[in-house]
Order: sequence, then C-alpha cells, then structure tokens
Amino acid sequence: MANGGVCLSCSALVCALVFLTVDGDFVDITYVASAVAKGAVCLDGSPPAYHLARGFGSGVNSWLVHFEGGGWCSNVTTCLQRKRTRLGSSKQMAKQIAFSGILSNTPDYNPDFYNWNKVKVRYCDGSSFTGDVEKVDPATKLHYRGARVWQAVMDDLLAKGMNSANNVRNILVPGFADPHGKWHSCKHDIDQCPASQLQILQGFRDDFLKALKEQGTPSTRGLFINSCFVHCQSETQETWFASGSPMLETKTIADAVGDRFYERNPFQKIDCPYPCDSTCHNRIYDDPSEA
Ligand SMILES: *[C@@H]1O[C@H](CO)[C@@H](O)[C@H](O)[C@H]1NC(C)=O
Repeated sequence: MANGGVCLSCSALVCALVFLTVDGDFVDITYVASAVAKGAVCLDGSPPAYHLARGFGSGVNSWLVHFEGGGWCSNVTTCLQRKRTRLGSSKQMAKQIAFSGILSNTPDYNPDFYNWNKVKVRYCDGSSFTGDVEKVDPATKLHYRGARVWQAVMDDLLAKGMNSANNVRNILVPGFADPHGKWHSCKHDIDQCPASQLQILQGFRDDFLKALKEQGTPSTRGLFINSCFVHCQSETQETWFASGSPMLETKTIADAVGDRFYERNPFQKIDCPYPCDSTCHNRIYDDPSEA
C-alpha cells in the first residue's frame, strides 16, 4: 500500500509537470460590463473581455498587454458567421485560457517577463479593434465598435493599476491577413506549394522589408524577423522559449526581446528567405481563429 501511495503521487507530479509544460497557466476571463453603456461591444452586442494575470515581485508595476488575433470579417455574410463564434461574441468565449510563452508566469518559460502583469485582450469586433460605427443595422444587429472596445478595455486596465505602471508594452497581433487571397490551395501543405505561390509569399517578405527600410531602423528599434510559416510565435511556448525554438544566430525570440527591452544588447536581425531556416516550426492552421 505504501509503495502504491508513493507511486501514485509520483505519477501525479509527472502529470502536473507535463500539464504545465503543454498548457501553461489558466487565467480567468473578466467581462467589461461597464463598456456596454459606452457602446463598446463585440459584433453581437455582448461586452468585451480580457484575461489578467497579476504581476508579482519586481514585476508588480510592469504591464504587458497582448491583443488577440483572428483575422477580419469583410462583409455582412462573414460578420454574421463570426457573430456566433468567440471571435464575435464574449458569450462564446472560454471562461479560462492558458497563458504560455510571453504570457507565462514561470521564469523557466518566460525569463524576462514572467512576473509582469499580463493581459490578453479578447478579440471580438471583426476588424482588429478599429471600428467606430454608431449605427446598428436593425436587420443584422451587427456592431462595428472595435475602437471603442480598445478604449474601454484600456480605461478598465488603467483603473486596475496600469495607471501606475513603470513599463507598459503593447503587443498587437493583427491576426491572419491574406491580402492577395491567392495561396489557399497550397496552404495546407507548404512543401507542396507551386513555385508561383511561394513567389507570392516571398513578395510579402520583400514588401515588408522594403517598407521597413523606408522607415529607417534606428538603433533603439529591435528587429527579429524570421522567415517561418507560423503565427503567434511569442505566445506559443515552443516558438517563444524552449529547447529547439526558432533562432536567429544564437538567440530565441524570448532572448532577443528581453535583450532589447532591458538594453543588454541591441538586436536587429533579418532571416534569409523561406525555406532556408532549419530552426523554424512551420505550422498550418485550418481555422484562422486557432492562430
Ligand atoms: C464576403 O466575403 C467572403 C470572404 O472574403 C467572400 O467569399 C464572399 O463572396 C463575400 N460575400 C459577399 C456578399 O460579398
């Protein structure tokens, strides 16, 4: 019996560790009910929401605000579809979500930001926190109020202590945008992409690097531009900071962001074009809301 008891607690410990590694820390949802009176609502008129993990120790006055991605809806048909999902309604959102990668509260997984206040702002307006349309079409009852959601959530967080922050970082993840809309046929297996479609992907990279160059890159600006076919590398543990994570030279994304933020080292690196980088974790999402 005694042995059995010991074994049981051993395997429970193993389970707990595995669980933590894979899923991160679960954080409760907060609905911003007061936003509704200001017309700051999701597509379906429900209140906006976020998840907040409180900072501790030396991170108690630092805030990291991450905006959830999830693409856009571009017309009434697709916005009506979205309205019935968690990307259009807080009624459909899970009550808890796992925080991992840059949102993890564990130093081994997130060495530089683990003890900050960390927020994941849920995305439910369909246009990346930009809409501000007063009129609500009585037929569709769709609300296009993303800019108001952004403001209402910020006001709420300021009142919860962000107003006394020393450090505030915003991470805007605009989600999956495919302006050319031309490469869906190969996106389920990137290795099978015809040359013409890979060319389009390379075109995104070229346009991006060109726009960046036009802006100039002062030494105060950090750059970690890898050529990997994947979203959300900062929020995913295996791409943010783990053994085998993507690297530019000897740095993971977590190393580069931390070095740059704490001014240990400037970091400005641009990868060679896809598919040259063997450290990438290329991932395909069937459902853009998973990205
Ligand atoms: C709405 O957008 C979707 C996706 O872009 C498109 O396939 C569809 O044809 C559009 N519908 C209308 C009515 O414009």
